[in-house]
Amino acid sequence: MNIKRVKSKNIKCLNEIITLEKKIFGDGGVNIWFLQPLSEYQLVYQCLNPSFVAYAILLKDIKTPKKAYLFSFGVSLESQNQGIGKEFLKKLIDELNELGFNHLELTVSPKNKVAIYLYKKTMKLVSSEFIKHCYGEKEDREKLCFEL
Ligand SMILES: CC(C)(COP(=O)(O)OP(=O)(O)OC[C@H]1O[C@@H](n2cnc3c(N)ncnc32)[C@H](O)[C@@H]1OP(=O)(O)O)[C@@H](O)C(=O)NCCC(=O)NCCS
Repeated sequence: MNIKRVKSKNIKCLNEIITLEKKIFGDGGVNIWFLQPLSEYQLVYQCLNPSFVAYAILLKDIKTPKKAYLFSFGVSLESQNQGIGKEFLKKLIDELNELGFNHLELTVSPKNKVAIYLYKKTMKLVSSEFIKHCYGEKEDREKLCFEL
């Protein structure tokens, strides 16, 4: 498995991510107007195994520059539950360490037991906060911060 940083000129790879995000998150997925600038000014990765199977979008926290925020993370539907998410996350942690980050924050639906289990199993949890109605009525989120 390899991870590849996707640069802003690589519209083909950005569109692969958009197509996969839409399958996973429906209307919650990003479009090219968001992802192209995110790839230019933030961090966008593809996971290749050997073809494209997963992606991650990360932001630098402007309040705490050594903290990265996991904006989106997903494995293609046909590749889930085969260890890809775990291996990809470990490679991302190595990459973030090399870039100088020491914490990773994210929010996740409290119902998403697989993602919460994966994050807590792979990284050291340092804080958690339940945010009721985070994305509006009944859209609660769990905010988790991990040490890298
Ligand atoms: C959450 C997600 C990234 C996990 O990736 P994955 O490749 O499916 O997970 P893995 O196969 O690496 O499994 C990680 C662990 O979860 C367990 N797991 C995976 N899928 C599971 C399932 N459906 N039910 C129970 N356990 C499961 C695995 O057994 C493994 O545990 P182990 O290491 O103790 O054996 C992936 O399912 C996904 O993309 N989901 C949709 C998008 C999403 O929810 N993203 C996160 C938003 S914050």
